[in-house]
Amino acid sequence: MPAPEASRPGFARWLSQSNDVTSVFLAAGQNPDLINLAGGLPEPALWPVDELAELAAEAVRNHPVETLAYGPIPGLPALRDLIAARFSTPTLRLGRENVLIATSGMQALELVGKVLLEPGATTIAAQSPAYLGALDAWRPRDPEYRPMRLEDAGFDPVTALAGAQFAYTVPNFSNPSGRLVPLAQRQALVDAAHETGTWLIEDDPYGVLYYEGAPLPRLLDLSGARKPGTYDGPVVYMGTLSKELTPGLRIGWIIAAPEMIAALAAAKQGSDMCSSGLGQMIALRAFERDIPGRILPDILATYRARRDALCAAMHEHLGEYLDWQHPSGGMFVWARARDPRLDTDRLLAHALAHGVCISPSSVFDPEGLDRGAMRINFTLNAPERLAEGVRRLASAIQATLAERS
Ligand SMILES: Cc1ncc(COP(=O)(O)O)c(C=O)c1O
Repeated sequence: MPAPEASRPGFARWLSQSNDVTSVFLAAGQNPDLINLAGGLPEPALWPVDELAELAAEAVRNHPVETLAYGPIPGLPALRDLIAARFSTPTLRLGRENVLIATSGMQALELVGKVLLEPGATTIAAQSPAYLGALDAWRPRDPEYRPMRLEDAGFDPVTALAGAQFAYTVPNFSNPSGRLVPLAQRQALVDAAHETGTWLIEDDPYGVLYYEGAPLPRLLDLSGARKPGTYDGPVVYMGTLSKELTPGLRIGWIIAAPEMIAALAAAKQGSDMCSSGLGQMIALRAFERDIPGRILPDILATYRARRDALCAAMHEHLGEYLDWQHPSGGMFVWARARDPRLDTDRLLAHALAHGVCISPSSVFDPEGLDRGAMRINFTLNAPERLAEGVRRLASAIQATLAERS
């Protein structure tokens, strides 16, 4: 008799709740015939490839220890100093102890979840709809979400934040809603964080992508202005090079009170020990040469034109099916179906069959219940391809509605 096979230990429960749409987007990127309006991807033609290649070669040759050895857990001191100086203002004093270099924004989110969530203390007050990457990062801790619908007239920041382990916001052109949080509401969120003692996460990958108007103050700026001295307030600011230079460098930063930075560094030790030294050296030199500043005008002109092309095509072909607002920055249009029978999970299946891909709203809802909206990206495709994508989407919507009637 053969011995019975030992059963393997099971996988963690959270894996079965993981979103499977991200892998659809990534696979979509491999199919050149499919128009990908789903991801949040920058236009590769805007990357300063030759200059970055020179910086990389120079960094390895002249700084082999910084680029090729293990480095300090919180990041290269020179890069931490540079970020502290870049974000300091007359009323916001930052030093190296306020900065941790992260393996981009996704790791920043994961580390915050690691240090603030534990069994019995898992409440997150999250701007709704919420970035699906954040939901993915925190899923292993099985959090409870308290949705913050900032556009609701009755929204009360103190009630929202009180007792939560942290609050999560994307004030500049939120992913997925494209929403810009107005100044008065920024101030109210910061005041509520100080009043309740709740950590307030400001996730800001889109803060440089303003296509109209002057940038609003960051939550970090508003919090810093409340008290002189080195910053020790409740805002935890997250920045990244992904949208202003390239995502493949995987370099981001967290700016926070020194006690938070120390906790995050302890968590990072058990995560990846340190971010890539090569990536950090390239980031340092890129900032010193002001590469992000030099390429920004081109990025803004390209994305502004693409936003306008997408919205014009949507007016022409989708006006009878969807409602949306023209975003004044960022990478996304958030569109809601006028007809409640238009289920956007079903639409995704039809859209793929029609050669276009969008992100359905269910993946931005921690409960997965909102099936009436979608996120449409405008940064990756040229205007003609955006228009063709919208025409295909209109056909996919008609097919979805026909199935339901
Ligand atoms: C709101 C938000 N936060 C964080 C990230 C993570 O970006 P990265 O890990 O490339 O810095 C993204 C990426 O699209 C995002 O939209």
